[in-house]
Amino acid sequence: MSDVIFRKGNRVILRPLERGDIPILRRWMNDPEVTQHLLRVLPITEKEEEEWVENIGKSKNDITLGMTLAEDKKLIGSMGLHQINWQHRTAVTGTVIGEKEYWGKGYGTEAKMLLLDFAFNALDLHAVLSKVMETNGRSLAYGKKCGYEEVGCIPKWIRQQNGERCDEVLLIVTQEKWRPLWQEYLKKNMQNAQ
Ligand SMILES: CC(C)(COP(=O)(O)OP(=O)(O)OC[C@H]1O[C@@H](n2cnc3c(N)ncnc32)[C@H](O)[C@@H]1OP(=O)(O)O)[C@@H](O)C(=O)NCCC(=O)NCCS
Repeated sequence: MSDVIFRKGNRVILRPLERGDIPILRRWMNDPEVTQHLLRVLPITEKEEEEWVENIGKSKNDITLGMTLAEDKKLIGSMGLHQINWQHRTAVTGTVIGEKEYWGKGYGTEAKMLLLDFAFNALDLHAVLSKVMETNGRSLAYGKKCGYEEVGCIPKWIRQQNGERCDEVLLIVTQEKWRPLWQEYLKKNMQNAQ
């Protein structure tokens, strides 16, 4: 278990991914229940996963982090800021919690708030975009808890693994919309720490 900490919340830590994480990431990305709402559908070999992890950090426009439990440092997911445009100060987020027993328990929301703290406070981005399948109710819900608002959708853009098509929903959170939520988050965390 890695003891590296990049950002720490009450229950979740964000840290860089490491070589030792590769078997866990590969397990997640080959699990159809985990990938049903992701665009990646092909199987992932050990070599491909190794290359993916080796390449993290080479691009200055993509930042990918592992999400671990604060209590025991178990890796449960990964999350990133992608296609960072330094001129327009925008990025696209992507998230996967691969350990399914941790879905719907608030870990994604906390991790996203920590990632947005980095995006908005440290990098001074203006806004962050998320693209979500209309059938992914959990992802739509957690994004809105972090301040994302639906700004449109691309009809029938996605062909799901069950063969049915669905809309791709576009959600955006701006630094301005996120700030009051971050203040609430900090207040709640300080109360919990007392
Ligand atoms: C999407 C994901 C990152 C969300 O993280 P999470 O930790 O599960 O989300 P949270 O528990 O923080 O928040 C989920 C919210 O959705 C609600 N929810 C759960 N299932 C839902 C559903 N089917 N429809 C609508 N809302 C739902 C929860 O009740 C919760 O809201 P609440 O706290 O107000 O009750 C995570 O579930 C995941 O990685 N899923 C698989 C991969 C994926 O879909 N990635 C996103 C691609 S865009």
